[in-house]
Amino acid sequence: MSSDDVTADALATDATGDLSAPPESQDSPVERAAATTPPAVPLRVTNLKKTFGGITAVDDMSFSVESGSITGLIGPNGAGKSTTFNLISGALTPDSGTVYFNGQDITGLRPDQIATRGMVRTFQIARELPEMTVLENLMLAPKNQIGETLWRSVLPGVRGSVIEQETELREQAWETLEFFEIDHLATNEAGTLSGGQQKLLEMARALMTDPELVLLDEPMAGVNPSLERKILDRIHRLQEDGLTFLLVEHDMDVIMQHCEHVIVMHQGRLLAEGEPDTIRSNERVIEAYLGEDLE
Ligand SMILES: Nc1ncnc2c1ncn2[C@@H]1O[C@H](COP(=O)(O)OP(=O)(O)O)[C@@H](O)[C@H]1O
Ligand SMILES: [Mg+2]
Repeated sequence: MSSDDVTADALATDATGDLSAPPESQDSPVERAAATTPPAVPLRVTNLKKTFGGITAVDDMSFSVESGSITGLIGPNGAGKSTTFNLISGALTPDSGTVYFNGQDITGLRPDQIATRGMVRTFQIARELPEMTVLENLMLAPKNQIGETLWRSVLPGVRGSVIEQETELREQAWETLEFFEIDHLATNEAGTLSGGQQKLLEMARALMTDPELVLLDEPMAGVNPSLERKILDRIHRLQEDGLTFLLVEHDMDVIMQHCEHVIVMHQGRLLAEGEPDTIRSNERVIEAYLGEDLE
């Protein structure tokens, strides 16, 4: 069958709703839609502003993140990247501006409410519970995200479904640990993990909430090169599964090699955005980084 035949077939399928169409044609309507409609934008922020006393940490930031992309958020130290993450994920409320997730205004919602909708973040400093085991940390992650009230509202009569949920959660936790190759650490106390292993645990915890978009704040900071490759590999595998990433990363080479789109912040503001190649040679970006230790 030629590629023309596939297209014609797919068109016919679309028009008639013929379910007996051959399997090759089933992706075609999606591909056609992707070619003719603008890309989906799960995250869009407009005019975000946040001040701390006299400091304007984020100032009139507007940008969007395309579905399925790895988008880099970069800028010198103190540029406002982590604060932007806090504003998007609900840890902080902006003084002004709006955060849209899948077209809905989510400004001011709590992190767990935002996580339930499909967006989570990891922290620059891992926030695991050090005295609990790695497995427990994973199993607690979605509970924390869903919110205490929902779990407390469970009545004795529906205990069966709670047990089912726990079993499912446990299975998902094991799968996630295996995916990051830290399943051998499942019964270790999280506090005993190395810095790099804690980074993997932090990502694993985020994934337990079944997110659509993940905000990663310096996931490879202080991590050895082989673990860095592993983290990048997992990010790409999850991207192939349809996840979208917004990535804060200090290492320019990583950003240039792994991101489709780069957003540059400087002194709380949007300095530039575009494809890695144009950002790398952007005079204003180079200037902003002068005096910074560019690894
Ligand atoms: N909770 C806070 N209280 C006061 N100032 C803060 C707070 N968080 C961040 N800042 C300030 O806001 C600016 C941006 O910080 P941050 O968002 O952490 O930058 P980045 O992550 O790009 O390094 C910095 O000047 C920082 O000192
Ligand atoms: Mg930061």
